[in-house]
Amino acid sequence: MGELGNLNPILMETTLVLIKPGGVQRNLIGEITRRIEARDLRISGLKLIRAELATVEEHYAEHRERPFFASVCDYLTSGPIVALAVSGTNSVKAIRAMMGATNPLEATPGTVRGDLALTIDDNLVHSSSDPEAAARELALWFPEGTF
Ligand code: CMP
Repeated sequence: MGELGNLNPILMETTLVLIKPGGVQRNLIGEITRRIEARDLRISGLKLIRAELATVEEHYAEHRERPFFASVCDYLTSGPIVALAVSGTNSVKAIRAMMGATNPLEATPGTVRGDLALTIDDNLVHSSSDPEAAARELALWFPEGTF
């Protein structure tokens, strides 16, 4: 084993990305999917939809008790969103890093939020936090499965 050991074992994964209403309104679908594909990750599911409130509430179920729950659910249903399934090596962690910190003011330049967003209320994208969340969220947004 090399000096760095096995810190990042190769895992083929699929994760979920949502481009929120602000991202669609600002014509950033292409910019965000371009970055994902440029990273050599594969888009294995893609749909432009108007989300049902019940779906968004289930999606954000872990935040149900948080003060921002109602407003983030309202926001996600306020206009069309894009749901993406993204597949590739360690895609969950790779996508999280590419999207940047939840609060765009803390997001590193070079990330989607660090380059394109300013406020936590409109941080442009959602991405699954870990493989368990990815499996749950993909089942919710892509019940028909992915490619
Ligand atoms: P997201 O990754 O989609 O997960 C929950 C969302 O709630 C988050 O991005 C933000 O857009 C929104 N949000 C609003 N206020 C907060 C907050 N104080 N902490 C975390 N998320 C927040």
